Amino acid sequence: AGGPLVLGIESSCDETGVGIVRGREVLANVIASSVDEQARYGGVVPEIAARAHLEAMRPTLERALETAGVRIADLDAVAVTAGPGLAGALMVGVGAAKALAVTARKPLYGVNHLVGHVTADQLHATGAEPVPVELPTVALLVSGGHTSLLLVRDLVEDVELLGETLDDAAGEAFDKTARLLGLPYPGGPSIDRAAQDGDPTAIRFPRGLTAPKDRERHRFDFSFSGLKTAVARHVERTEADGGALAVADVAASFREAVVDVLVTKALDACAATGVPRLLLGGGVVANRRLRDVATTRAEAAGVRLRIPPFDLCTDNGAMIAGLGARLVEAGATPSGAGFGVDSTLP
Ligand code: KG4
Ligand code: ZN
Repeated sequence: AGGPLVLGIESSCDETGVGIVRGREVLANVIASSVDEQARYGGVVPEIAARAHLEAMRPTLERALETAGVRIADLDAVAVTAGPGLAGALMVGVGAAKALAVTARKPLYGVNHLVGHVTADQLHATGAEPVPVELPTVALLVSGGHTSLLLVRDLVEDVELLGETLDDAAGEAFDKTARLLGLPYPGGPSIDRAAQDGDPTAIRFPRGLTAPKDRERHRFDFSFSGLKTAVARHVERTEADGGALAVADVAASFREAVVDVLVTKALDACAATGVPRLLLGGGVVANRRLRDVATTRAEAAGVRLRIPPFDLCTDNGAMIAGLGARLVEAGATPSGAGFGVDSTLP
């Protein structure tokens, strides 16, 4: 009972995640992050992320199996993120998953990281009420590595990419802007803190790809590089004038611009597709202002907003295991023995 027992491995960015699910129930969700190490460099260095995954993989696997109280022999399948993500980082997870699948003779599924984020919405902790599955839904995934709008009708068979960032990811924009303002990495939390006492209307920063001419081709795409440049110009100008930089106001105004674009486009996608449901995922969902604005505007638009618990919003292995379980239940063919990683997997 309860569905297939699946172990999932996630290593697309800087989190080494191993999760184990039985159907939609999360038995273990262990995460080792190299964020502290990355902080020394002010961002994710691919080579360092890959090395950190290699060190963390075995202990993370062992802790997940121990927490779930299952043996490898009991698993029905293994799932692993095949992309999108950092190639070297992905290879560590895929290599581990292949070794596990071969030695234990288990079917192996290489899965899409973004669809994993959507799956997170359907998972529940042991002892908690199962979460009702609400599809179709529009999903907005915002992290340090991606900014994507999806229309999800079916996890296995029908996920449509409506739009994505043409340059920086939303979290990356927070990280780079924090650096411009002399705030520590990761930038999201430090800008959130700095913005608390700031005036979000102090500076009118640009909202990328929202002009009428952009809306034709890029209605659901994002661009944050112009915003980043605008902040840089503002900092330069203030310094040239010999004035003091109002960090709180800049942080609040920047955050407002990002949140405004994200929520406007996501709700526009709901209206355009006629799907009155919006799911948020990714590390940027930790942003207070994003949650507040999304909640208020979704309600006004008659859109049901769903935000999974935070440990399922950020990169994790349970969402990958959960997607693996869906694939097993759907009778999907396991990935071929020689499947590789695809850092730009659509
Ligand atoms: O999903 P995640 O943990 O890892 C990946 O990037 O895949 O997301 C991390 C990103 C970082 O760019 C970080 O700055 C951003 O999420 N972030 C935030 C906040 N907390 C984390 N961005 C805005 N506001 C926050 N409070
Ligand atoms: Zn992610």
